[in-house]
Amino acid sequence: MVISEPVHSRLVAAARQAAGHAYCPYSRFPVGAAVLTDGDEIFSGCNVENASYGLTICAERNAIFQAVASMRERPTIRAVVVFTPTEEPTAPCGACRQVINEFGLDVVVISVCNGSNVMVHRLCELLPHAFGPGNLE
Ligand code: THU
Repeated sequence: MVISEPVHSRLVAAARQAAGHAYCPYSRFPVGAAVLTDGDEIFSGCNVENASYGLTICAERNAIFQAVASMRERPTIRAVVVFTPTEEPTAPCGACRQVINEFGLDVVVISVCNGSNVMVHRLCELLPHAFGPGNLE
């Protein structure tokens, strides 16, 4: 799947902007995410922490849940961009990989940061032998 340069730029801008809204007083590690649907819509989210630490929700899952809440039908995700204001890119946690897997088959996961390194993987590389909706058919 090829993402055009203008769409890539919009995704990165949305993820970066969402990171600016992160609520992360405990970790002080802001994360922003933007998802691209097969209809070329973009939804974003940030991490939201809680004093009861385990209730923290990651940016990627928040962005996906925004897509679900906003769309009439089950979204199909083509790409997820993760932005962290760090020197090196950050890959999505295992829980987020599993949630991405629920909504896309061949998703491209792109991690960007303040440094120039970019990480690009297909979800199947990040979550091999995944358990997904197909297992329940
Ligand atoms: N975090 C994310 O938002 N996404 C990830 O994939 C990794 C971790 C958040 C959760 C927590 O608020 C902070 O980063 C530190 O773990």
